[in-house]
Amino acid sequence: MPLLENRTALVVGGTGGIGRAIAAAYAREGAEVVVADRAEAAVRIDVTDEDSVRAAVEEANRRLGRIDVLVNSAGILTESPLTEMSAQTWAETIAVDLTGVFLCCRHVVPGMVERGFGRVVNIASQLGIKGGRGLAHYSAAKAGVLGLTKSLALEVADRGVLVNAIAPGPIETPMVAGITEEWKVAKRAELPLGRFGTPEEVAPAAVLLASDPGGNLFVGQTLGPNSGDVMP
Ligand SMILES: NC(=O)c1ccc[n+]([C@@H]2O[C@H](COP(=O)([O-])OP(=O)(O)OC[C@H]3O[C@@H](n4cnc5c(N)ncnc54)[C@H](O)[C@@H]3O)[C@@H](O)[C@H]2O)c1
Repeated sequence: MPLLENRTALVVGGTGGIGRAIAAAYAREGAEVVVADRAEAAVRIDVTDEDSVRAAVEEANRRLGRIDVLVNSAGILTESPLTEMSAQTWAETIAVDLTGVFLCCRHVVPGMVERGFGRVVNIASQLGIKGGRGLAHYSAAKAGVLGLTKSLALEVADRGVLVNAIAPGPIETPMVAGITEEWKVAKRAELPLGRFGTPEEVAPAAVLLASDPGGNLFVGQTLGPNSGDVMP
């Protein structure tokens, strides 16, 4: 029995590594899925631009009839020591990785509240919990996503809308492809599992959070498919 039969889902950042795997897993589980992304997607969205978010959500609603599940997986990652970081680099990361999640929730969750059902899955990062050298902007944004997730969860849980986060460890996607091999070798050696994850190993957590009854008791939680790197 498919876990997401008769559900509709909007996957933002859905042409990226993790978002694509989640969209595919949702479709395999019977959901009708709209993928939105800045690049190559059926529905174009720039999560930093409220007009673009509003238009993309309207288009997703037109195609799906309603949005039962929202996945926020758009993100960017750059590296710079804070002491050398420009205010622009800081602002760009906060705009995509944190404000983008706010804007997508802001424009999708009211419909969920109105209908008395919804699931929101925000893709944060373990770096929002443990921090990372050269990643103050990214870690701050992801910690912000965890705070947003808990606060929104408190606001809407009693209206049938469950909001949770996933904080993956290093996952083999285009996002980590650009990082030096030296860093990757050292990072793998640190991990209890000794290897990075794949997007297909993250997607089942997003299926669980969207499913009924599997996801029914998760409220403001952070699931950690992270090869053992963080044990909160
Ligand atoms: N890969 C990892 O190791 C890892 C670990 C933890 C968390 N994450 C998080 O998972 C999420 C997905 O990352 P990924 O690894 O799949 O990376 P990715 O680069 O493959 O995917 C990110 C997607 O976001 C889209 N995007 C970027 N800026 C956008 C914008 N302004 N508007 C709309 N879309 C935009 C990109 O086009 C891309 O398709 C991100 O939030 C990332 O921070 C990744």
